[in-house]
Amino acid sequence: MLGDIEQGGAILAQFAQAMLEALRRRPRSIAPKFFYDQRGMQLFERICLLDEYYLTRTETALLREHAGQIAALIGPRAELVEFGAGSPDKAKIVLDALAQPALYVPVDLSVEGLSAARRELERAYPGLRVEPLAADLMAPFSLPDRSSTRGCRAGLFLGSTIGNFSPVEARDFLARAARALNGGALLVGVDLVKDPARLHRAYNDAQEVTAAFNRNLLVRANRELGADFDPTGFHHYAFYQPDEQRIEMHLVSARRQVVHLCGQEFEFADGESLHTENSYKYTVEGFHALARQVGLAPGPVWCDRERLFSLHWLAQAAQSA
Ligand code: AVI
Repeated sequence: MLGDIEQGGAILAQFAQAMLEALRRRPRSIAPKFFYDQRGMQLFERICLLDEYYLTRTETALLREHAGQIAALIGPRAELVEFGAGSPDKAKIVLDALAQPALYVPVDLSVEGLSAARRELERAYPGLRVEPLAADLMAPFSLPDRSSTRGCRAGLFLGSTIGNFSPVEARDFLARAARALNGGALLVGVDLVKDPARLHRAYNDAQEVTAAFNRNLLVRANRELGADFDPTGFHHYAFYQPDEQRIEMHLVSARRQVVHLCGQEFEFADGESLHTENSYKYTVEGFHALARQVGLAPGPVWCDRERLFSLHWLAQAAQSA
């Protein structure tokens, strides 16, 4: 309980600092990890169910279709580490296919919401221990010690969350994850480069759930930091930037306006933007090249028939036979 409060305080301080820095720099930008307060997580869950947002259902179908092969690669009595685990729904597809999974470690900035899931999982998978770990994936982290009586340790990084890192951050994350997995392989979900119109629809849905998700950053700043943003005074702007192979999301000021945050005043010109997210898309070859840079050996890749999404098995050198 005290741990949750301390963790909440640290996240709040981090958010305040990130928001102040975002408003001071030009062009203005902030890391997308601050989208995910309780409301942000609910809105993201709604995004995952949208017709336009093909990522979640395509990845889920790939996991279901290839769970047997994935489980065979991981082996029995495994220790499964899920990075950026909002909900364990996708990990459950892998856990269902594994023989006697021994340990599941969901790693996320906030693991507050995972205590109910923990009980449910330990009931559903007899012999499984669940040890949530609160950690920032952008910084060094260490995992619980490995048990010699258990099988391999494997990592999951699903949902194309890796696309929310810049390629350099993605490479550094893969290196950190590989080190923490200590020889274990990684299964990474990666959204693929495709028709820009399809990408545009995925980030500009007709019901404007993505717009609400984007603006929720300002609602959160008002509630948690006492800021006075008018969220309706900012347009949701998301577009594909082909040179960088990424969707950019911005909040664009609809007029000249002044905002207060932590006792300071910030002016937005009409049309000035706060860059809130990048979502990088990769080719299979491009992602393999990134993995190889940190010594990971690309293994099987599973893609859907339309080549919208990919699941990559990345082994550590010693295991890559
Ligand atoms: C979590 N992440 C992979 C999502 C994405 O597609 O980049 C977040 C998101 N942003 C807008 N819609 C969904």
